[in-house]
Amino acid sequence: MFGLLYDTPVEWVARVEALGLLALLSDHAHCELKAAATMQALIAKNCDHERIVQSLPEVAQEELQHFQLVEEELRRRGGRLAEQTSSPYADGLQKGAAATRTSLLLDRLLLSHLIEARSAERFHLLAQHLEDRDLAQLYQGLMPSESAHRVLFLRLAQDAFPAEPVAQRLRELQELEAEVVSRLPLEARIHSGMA
Ligand SMILES: [Fe+2]
Ligand SMILES: [Fe+2]
Repeated sequence: MFGLLYDTPVEWVARVEALGLLALLSDHAHCELKAAATMQALIAKNCDHERIVQSLPEVAQEELQHFQLVEEELRRRGGRLAEQTSSPYADGLQKGAAATRTSLLLDRLLLSHLIEARSAERFHLLAQHLEDRDLAQLYQGLMPSESAHRVLFLRLAQDAFPAEPVAQRLRELQELEAEVVSRLPLEARIHSGMA
């Protein structure tokens, strides 16, 4: 459904919910903030790629709106944005991709594609299975946007590079992403695991 090679078990939702929704929301807010920063960096570093320069400002704005929405929900529930901690998911992807990289831009676009896909998969699961139906609705509302970002990043990669290298690198990074995510520890984070 999301073009990923590892399907998160449904039980992940209940286990994360038991760890605490305030911590999950704080982590989620940071994910949105980081996504907005990533979009801005992509624009600044790829001034000669018209489609990147023209399409990513809107995505950056959407990610900031998501940040506001999630941060407001966190406060409404009596929580506060906690300090950001390093993400084993993002670190695992960066390290794994760097080892076999041929193009930094291609990797940035395809990793963004996969991270958006994983976020959409998690939002979908949370929307379907959270016991807290209020929060489930918030995730239901956010899912289509991340799913559209997922499609956009693949198109940007296909626009900037020939089909064959894109398909080959996508396969490699899909395998890396599945391996990284399947080994993540259980934490109250959007990109956590069951280990
Ligand atoms: Fe977002
Ligand atoms: Fe996104």
